[in-house]
Amino acid sequence: MADRVSSSVDKSQNSVTISYLSQREAVEIQDLLTGTLGFSIDQLMELEGLSVAASIAEVYRSSDCSRVLVICGIGNNGGDGLVAARHLCHFGFKPSVCYLDCQPKNPFTGLVTQLESLSIPFLSVEDLPRDLSKEFDIIVDAIFGVLSHGEPRRPFDGIIQRLASLNCHDHTHKRSPAIVSVDIPSGWNVDEGDVGGQGIKPDMLVSLTAPKHCAKKFGGPHHFLGGRFVPPSVAAKYKICVPAFHGTSMCARIEKTSHDDIAAQREKYVSPEFLKDHVMVNPIDKFCKWLEDAVNAGLPQPRNFALSTADKNGKPSSRMLLLRKVDQDGFVWLTNYESRKAREISENPCASLLFFWGGLNQQIWRQVRVEGTVQKTSDEESEKYFHGRPGGSQIAAIVSKQSTVIQAKHLLDQNYEELEAKFSDGSLIPRPENWGGYRLKANLVEFWQGLPSRLHDRFQYSLKEVDGKQVWHVDQLAP
Ligand SMILES: Cc1cc2nc3c(=O)[nH]c(=O)nc-3n(C[C@H](O)[C@H](O)[C@H](O)COP(=O)(O)O)c2cc1C
Repeated sequence: MADRVSSSVDKSQNSVTISYLSQREAVEIQDLLTGTLGFSIDQLMELEGLSVAASIAEVYRSSDCSRVLVICGIGNNGGDGLVAARHLCHFGFKPSVCYLDCQPKNPFTGLVTQLESLSIPFLSVEDLPRDLSKEFDIIVDAIFGVLSHGEPRRPFDGIIQRLASLNCHDHTHKRSPAIVSVDIPSGWNVDEGDVGGQGIKPDMLVSLTAPKHCAKKFGGPHHFLGGRFVPPSVAAKYKICVPAFHGTSMCARIEKTSHDDIAAQREKYVSPEFLKDHVMVNPIDKFCKWLEDAVNAGLPQPRNFALSTADKNGKPSSRMLLLRKVDQDGFVWLTNYESRKAREISENPCASLLFFWGGLNQQIWRQVRVEGTVQKTSDEESEKYFHGRPGGSQIAAIVSKQSTVIQAKHLLDQNYEELEAKFSDGSLIPRPENWGGYRLKANLVEFWQGLPSRLHDRFQYSLKEVDGKQVWHVDQLAP
């Protein structure tokens, strides 16, 4: 029997092997599960829907992305969607359901009743808002599953087209909702993928039981496995090779498995195009907007940047710092005034900052270079920053003669503990004179945005004097 199996195997860089099922195999497995193995359809749907909801909750926080639209088709994939909607509600999300076959005699009346009892709104296709991006943070595509074949007919074709068009960012920089496909991106060929290239491009795919062949073409950042019910006999028969589920988890992340896939994933590094007519007049406003985007996207430590300085001989050095403040007066960070960077700034006040927001799994892919001159913040300002820091950080700033050679770390610890005891009564910790802020006043700011075409966008703002006034001049640079 095993030699009949055509599931293909893909080896990743870290040697995890993933197998893929053909449509025929996937259907056979379903028949086996609901036949000799004694599962009911309801049971499978419960477990699959739970995996979908659990995968979504792994990636998206209900506090930031609560508005979920679950679009359910008429088959079992739609049933998975209904179950997922119920769990998402219990997980703190606010799902709405567009059930494409909400007839009184539909097979999932029980699920519909359960969703209604949770006051989950049901929307018809006609009720759907014109602009889905305004109303929803996440859209779950549970329209077609492994049984799908041929061209989708009405009303499925229209809704699939709407989801496909959401992937194309419009020129207003609106963030599209994340699309999560259940098992198969609807409209894709189960074995061949998005044949015409015009289909849905989900951000997340939750493969059930095992990924199907089309999942090799999935280019989004989040691929999960759900459906934790496959007995070893079935896994062995179909040579299913998938990541292990950990602990009690109902989902497991599937890492990218080949250079091709990673290339496909890179195609998703799509921040909206930075068109010339969207260039703001003031680069600081633009920077604040991009920083806000990075914060909203949940990127780790978006305020970190690299500061590059150079000594009097032009010898450069870089280090990471934390941005404390940014406004029209400049970019502020806090540090030790006797550190290497401080010495270099005193010799040469020209410096450069570099921010980067993105990562392999992110849709934001941006960097900002800022150049200018640096000066210390006023004593008054530094004083305010210092006392705004946690007590431990204030003591550490006193104890550490930053960038100097130390004989033994434990002497610092000892010094720290002594001061901690001294100030344990809550008395004011005095700011050391060698600690304070620096402010870089920009004269050049360059925004770089990665685009799938590799012809990335670059806009450079430089200060120019016009009629005795300093004004920002904008140039577009070749990538
Ligand atoms: C993410 C990150 C953030 C940092 N933030 C600061 C900071 O805000 N101020 C600071 O003095 N050092 C910070 N550091 C430590 C610096 O990178 C550096 O080691 C230290 O300032 C001494 O640099 P220097 O010898 O070039 O003066 C940070 C390090 C990292 C990795």
